[in-house]
Amino acid sequence: MIERPDKTDSPASMTRAGFLRLSAAAIAACALGGRALPSLASPAMRTRPIPASGEALPVIGLGTYQGFDVAPGSAAYAQLPDVLRALFAAGGSVIDSSPMYGRAEATTGELLAAAGARSRAFLATKVWTRGGAEGRRQIDESLRLLRAGPIDLMQVHNLLDWRTHLPALRELKAAGRIRYLGITHYHAGAYEELAAVMRAERFDFLQINYSLDEREAERRILPLAAERGMAVLINRPFGGGGLLRRLRDRPLPGWAAEIGAAIWAQLLLKFVLSQPAVTCAIPGTGRPGHMADNARAGAGPIPDPGFWRGHPLDP
Ligand SMILES: NC(=O)c1ccc[n+]([C@@H]2O[C@H](COP(=O)([O-])OP(=O)(O)OC[C@H]3O[C@@H](n4cnc5c(N)ncnc54)[C@H](OP(=O)(O)O)[C@@H]3O)[C@@H](O)[C@H]2O)c1
Repeated sequence: MIERPDKTDSPASMTRAGFLRLSAAAIAACALGGRALPSLASPAMRTRPIPASGEALPVIGLGTYQGFDVAPGSAAYAQLPDVLRALFAAGGSVIDSSPMYGRAEATTGELLAAAGARSRAFLATKVWTRGGAEGRRQIDESLRLLRAGPIDLMQVHNLLDWRTHLPALRELKAAGRIRYLGITHYHAGAYEELAAVMRAERFDFLQINYSLDEREAERRILPLAAERGMAVLINRPFGGGGLLRRLRDRPLPGWAAEIGAAIWAQLLLKFVLSQPAVTCAIPGTGRPGHMADNARAGAGPIPDPGFWRGHPLDP
């Protein structure tokens, strides 16, 4: 079965809230350089609710690992305002970073500040260190680099020293410096521990790897996230890029049009979104064209998980 845009999730084009969001996207796109505004006739990106609050989150975001770890003045850096413009113009908002990603937090913070577009972004980053004092120092540094006001989502990166960080994260949330708390991992080898942590403590978000060639999360982790009321961000939706590289010379199956996928990247993102426990996929890119292509996967039909049994793919 294929979920049509007028049936589920939140087709933003239909509602007043959706209209306001699209208007905000147009203003933010304008602020990032005054280029062409998004067509109001283009299909709006779907949203899904964050279980902890009901807040609507657009289903395609942006990962900053590698793509945003580039030096100011470089050709790669010069493209990044257009990456953000493409994200916002399509109705997206989620941007995921980490102190592990070199200068990605600094790049994100300075570009959003230059464009006056902070309010358009849902900013997620991570604490990735050991020890309480070092954790607090790192979080303060993330707040400074992202120039965020409150950070929307602070995650414990790869569960590193999560027991130590959790009390500080809860304090920061109570003080309004962090809006949501989460945990992340990127590898099935950690799922045993991840499941135990998800059962033992309350977190608002889980970030996990899931893609056509890394499907382990669908067995236990995604159902557990739904059971525990956690929003789910999906990292590595293209297997870190390797999956797309393997598929790019193969013709797209004829049935891809049925689910609104014009290219492999969109088909792979719709695969990820077909899991109902998934809230948002965060493909990484430093290229505006790739960002625009990826964002389009968040509009139009989304298949349900059973669709793939009738349309098997060998990645
Ligand atoms: N918590 C964790 O442990 C963890 C681990 C890994 C990642 N993450 C987060 O998840 C995000 C996504 O994961 P990822 O970046 O590792 O892998 P990914 O999203 O699976 O793949 C990224 C790669 O795909 C390429 N790409 C993106 N869109 C494309 C398109 N439309 N057409 C062709 N190529 C495209 C990118 O290159 P171009 O730049 O050339 O587009 C990049 O090389 C990260 O950026 C990071 O924010 C978290």
